[in-house]
Amino acid sequence: MTAASVEQRREPIVSVRDLQVRFQTSDRRATVKAVDGVNFDVRRGETFGIIGESGSGKTTIGRALVFLLNPSAGAILHDGIDPLALPRREFQNHRRDYQIIFQDPNAALNPRMTILASVLEPLELARIGSHTERERQAREALERVGLPQEFGERYPHQLSGGQKQRVVIARALTLKPKLIVCDEVVAALDMSIRGDVLNLFADLQRDLGLTYVFITHDLAVVSHISERVAVMYLGQFVELGPTEEVAERPLHPYTIALLSAEPRPLPSAMRQESRIVLQGEVPSPIDPPSGCRFRTRCPHAQPLCTECAPEWRELKPDHWVACHFADRPNFRTTRNTGEAP
Ligand SMILES: Nc1ncnc2c1ncn2[C@@H]1O[C@H](COP(=O)(O)OP(=O)(O)OP(=O)(O)O)[C@@H](O)[C@H]1O
Ligand code: SF4
Ligand SMILES: [Mg+2]
Repeated sequence: MTAASVEQRREPIVSVRDLQVRFQTSDRRATVKAVDGVNFDVRRGETFGIIGESGSGKTTIGRALVFLLNPSAGAILHDGIDPLALPRREFQNHRRDYQIIFQDPNAALNPRMTILASVLEPLELARIGSHTERERQAREALERVGLPQEFGERYPHQLSGGQKQRVVIARALTLKPKLIVCDEVVAALDMSIRGDVLNLFADLQRDLGLTYVFITHDLAVVSHISERVAVMYLGQFVELGPTEEVAERPLHPYTIALLSAEPRPLPSAMRQESRIVLQGEVPSPIDPPSGCRFRTRCPHAQPLCTECAPEWRELKPDHWVACHFADRPNFRTTRNTGEAP
């Protein structure tokens, strides 16, 4: 790769600034702060992982990135522009470049439509090219995801889970996106075929120059596919950095606990010697704790953690963290003695 293309690769394709997404509860009496002040860039051509427990806000960020929902505050820029400022028609065209794929392929495929018709549908809706041209593109997309042509005439119930997820990927590819948000895309698949589907994503990225945002609660998936990873807790990022760096030298107590709890075989550097069991439940995003949101479960919490929210800071090059004490030596082994670590 030339110096210029390396530089180009580092350019953000998506920039997220002070993003907030709030929902009203069904009785309209309270507000869920699902995403509450998140900042990051996704670089062109990379796979950016987001991990975190259930309810931490991962899907909400993913849906906001492709404007399936609008930010309550803050901004999301695509290639430096605010898509919400575009005229309606241009906005609709623009959105084709930013696709999202979810966990359950059954929800994405109409059981009464053939596979070919499903893959064709986004092209038909966008009215791109002639019908013959659209069908050629749809068949090409099926081939690209490794499905034989005769699958085009089948119905979803005649395919396995992995094959259905390939169809969903083909459907997204027909619109030639620049970026795909992949939300738990292998979570529903058998362990035996997860690797194949992850490899397909890697091949497509290499061949088509795609950028991915890969959302998962599975550390093994993130370590397999992502160059950088963000760790999410209760609507906020607590750590962000190169995946290997975060896995080998985590800076935030929550990341350290997550890594220690991972039951599956991980690279040796990702395994902790002793398991850290977090105390207490995840607090409600309706009324999150003051100061640091993790303080109610953090083994290192100090009075300062209740009073002030930690700054989001770049503690090492490209490695960001939100913890008052993450730069103290021996943080990983410090016990909660009531003294600052
Ligand atoms: N449409 C909605 N209306 C109200 N609350 C919502 C809505 N969508 C999400 N939430 C709430 O926002 C918070 C974040 O949800 P989100 O689905 O983004 O979490 P997640 O990290 O993707 O979880 P999981 O790992 O279970 O998929 C949760 O508390 C959830 O209940
Ligand atoms: S700021 Fe305090 S409570 Fe939050 S993670 Fe750091 S030590 Fe724990
Ligand atoms: Mg989710």
